[in-house]
Amino acid sequence: MKHLRIGVAAALGSVAFTLAAAAQTAPAPAPAMQLTELKPGLDDVMTAMVQPRHLKLHAAAEAKNWHLAAFQLDEPRASFRRIGQYIPKYRNKDFAEAVTNTMGPNLTALESAIKAKDAKAFKTVFADVTASCNACHVFMEHPFLVIKVPRGAAALYPDQEFKAPKD
Ligand code: HEC
Repeated sequence: MKHLRIGVAAALGSVAFTLAAAAQTAPAPAPAMQLTELKPGLDDVMTAMVQPRHLKLHAAAEAKNWHLAAFQLDEPRASFRRIGQYIPKYRNKDFAEAVTNTMGPNLTALESAIKAKDAKAFKTVFADVTASCNACHVFMEHPFLVIKVPRGAAALYPDQEFKAPKD
């Protein structure tokens, strides 16, 4: 019995030694990233919150669905407001102020065109709005991010109806 105990102790001792040696040589596992640590950057929120609205707004107006266009215009406004709260400053420039300076008057003009259900005016003003997206990209030192007036934007959302429902 005594022999057996010594044998077991020796075996355990060698296992402990092996484990200790392994712990020294094996690389430490990377700590798991928590979802709460994943903070979207400005490029992510632009791609997720602003770019689709620009497309959908155009698709709605192309289908002369003014009710939907008005809704799609409110959304980027709200998005810009929320983005400004989330990222108040980018490259030391005030985000909300830059939105007002670059987009403000053009968004108001677009709202008037939608209210008037004026497809021709919409076309002109939408190009101005798009130019103001780019004006801010230039202002915020990203002149290579160029947004343009889309063609056939509705095809990008085959699961959404852009035509006004018949009543
Ligand atoms: C207040 C300034 C500002 C306005 C207004 C603005 N942007 Fe941006 N946008 C930025 C900045 C700055 C970046 C780059 C952020 C980064 O690199 O993290 C950016 C990035 C983007 C990107 C990401 C590009 C990519 O491929 O990853 C898209 C898309 C975009 N903007 C679309 C738009 C559209 C569409 C509008 C107009 C409806 C618009 N933006 C208006 C400042 C602005």
